[in-house]
Amino acid sequence: MCGIVGYVGSKDAQEIIIDCLKRLEYRGYDSAGIAMISDGSISLKKSVGEISVLESIMGNMEGNLGIAHTRWATHGKPTEKNAHPFLDCVGKIAIVHNGILTNYMDLREQLVKEGHEFASETDSEVFAHLIEKSAGDSLMSEVLAALSKVEGSYAIAVIKNDNEEIIVARNESPLVIGIGHRENFVASDVTALLKYTNEFVHLQDKEVARITANSVEIFDLAGNSIQRESKRISWSVEDAERSGYPHFMLKEIFEQPQAIHESLLGRLEGQEDELPFFYSRVGSVKIVGCGTSYHAGLVGKYIIEELSKVPTTCQISSEYRYSPITESKPLVVCITQSGETADTLAAAREARKRGCKTIAITNVLGSAITREVDTVIYTRAGPEIGVAATKTFVTQLIALYLLALRVAGGRNAITSEHRREIISSMRNLPRLAQNVLNDAERIHTLAKKYKDAHSMFFIGRHINYPTSLEGALKTKEISYIHGEGYPAGELKHGPLALLSCDTPVIAICVRDHTYEKMLGNVREVAARDAPVLAVGIEGDIDLDKFAEDVFLVPEVEPLFSPIPIIIALQLFSYYLALERGCPIDKPRNIAKTVTVE
Ligand code: F6R
Repeated sequence: MCGIVGYVGSKDAQEIIIDCLKRLEYRGYDSAGIAMISDGSISLKKSVGEISVLESIMGNMEGNLGIAHTRWATHGKPTEKNAHPFLDCVGKIAIVHNGILTNYMDLREQLVKEGHEFASETDSEVFAHLIEKSAGDSLMSEVLAALSKVEGSYAIAVIKNDNEEIIVARNESPLVIGIGHRENFVASDVTALLKYTNEFVHLQDKEVARITANSVEIFDLAGNSIQRESKRISWSVEDAERSGYPHFMLKEIFEQPQAIHESLLGRLEGQEDELPFFYSRVGSVKIVGCGTSYHAGLVGKYIIEELSKVPTTCQISSEYRYSPITESKPLVVCITQSGETADTLAAAREARKRGCKTIAITNVLGSAITREVDTVIYTRAGPEIGVAATKTFVTQLIALYLLALRVAGGRNAITSEHRREIISSMRNLPRLAQNVLNDAERIHTLAKKYKDAHSMFFIGRHINYPTSLEGALKTKEISYIHGEGYPAGELKHGPLALLSCDTPVIAICVRDHTYEKMLGNVREVAARDAPVLAVGIEGDIDLDKFAEDVFLVPEVEPLFSPIPIIIALQLFSYYLALERGCPIDKPRNIAKTVTVE
């Protein structure tokens, strides 16, 4: 997904901007560009490919004010002319834009009729010409006039040749302002700026800001001033760096014991009171999310129903808004690690429209979802840079255990003894996660064996059916091996036809009430000559009899088994990708934050 960076201060803007832009690389991009103001004129450089290509052509661009962009092609191919920033006809205004303008065709047609010349095929370029056309008494008024014409989503940053300010605006696309000492910053994501500041102002939808080296002023689209306190974020720059790991994904997998610990801190022993009491009185729960967050929601259904007995359903965010209203006002839990996923934001708005109480589970303080819901449970995973969600998934599960305990407590659905047992199991989770990580080399060896597969099945039952979906998703997005997650009981209803000696099956076999049936499925698969890698629980001596390979995670209550098992599967997909030489932190075609519906 595209990234925006801007700087205004007294330092060499080029160096800072390029450094920050590199910290957004993980979002995925196919071209990059930078515009700087120096001596009353704008200099512009753009290139296709990596930021290093841009660096090689840009030379020394002087100035203390500039904006830059990494583009992920949507409207128009990834070419130099379609790369941002864009200039107006006379080269006095430069803009960068993330998002999609839905009425750009009409605007462009009109602007062309009026004599404006376009240099690209993008929707974004209309901004530069609309601002040029506005010709107001300040850049702010010109930007406001341009914004009144556009429809769609945007995060923009605008500079003008004779101004010492950056004008930014947002609507449904993330943008943060970093506050420094006699310097200020703009970026799509706080992680880009952590090296320079921990203090941020989160711009909200339909807001505009004027940023100079010494001030940040926020306005609504009518130009009325808005007061907003800045927030301090505790994440450090090291949190957002690789710290010696070859990939962010591996670092983030290994950070999970700490992330679980942080996410539990102060929230056990009945201190989970950040959740208002009325949530415990809900008649039903509906969980929404996308991708990995949806899978966390599917696990959450089992957790909430088991602990609180409250009927729970889980739906993909982009489907929720089209579904009929079948339950009377469920509590809607919106899961999104980034807090910026357009489909989940839309689902949260829809839930409110339907009169439901809403909770968000998110990892990012001040993100858009936090303004769309009644209450937020923050996962405390720290920044996640790898495109594949790992530690945020596991901490989402922690948030769901906490929520389930709270709902169960409010309804007297569990005895105090059972509650004590649950809490004691939760305290043990960081150690459990660490034990799986200690066995990483064994998983690496298994990955070497299976790395040439074209297709794999991941099967599980009950609470580990969604774990199988998540294992399959990790495998396909990182290693590009087709991975299919399936409820083990469904194999015989069709997919068995696909099995052969070339189709490994990863079978999650936990010693719960589904165990015997899982063993049956493993036998069924082995009988079709498909190699089985069984992921089971320490002490299991039966799996060996039917599976070609076995990986055992430490003894764990079945309710908590998705945590050690998914850590094993994350490592498995990581090592598969490593052995296949895939670009692990930046898999092709996908973005870390998906801000389009
Ligand atoms: C997969 C992955 C995606 C995200 C999905 C939702 O590894 O990361 O499937 O889970 O795009 O993102 P969030 O949680 O930010 O709403």
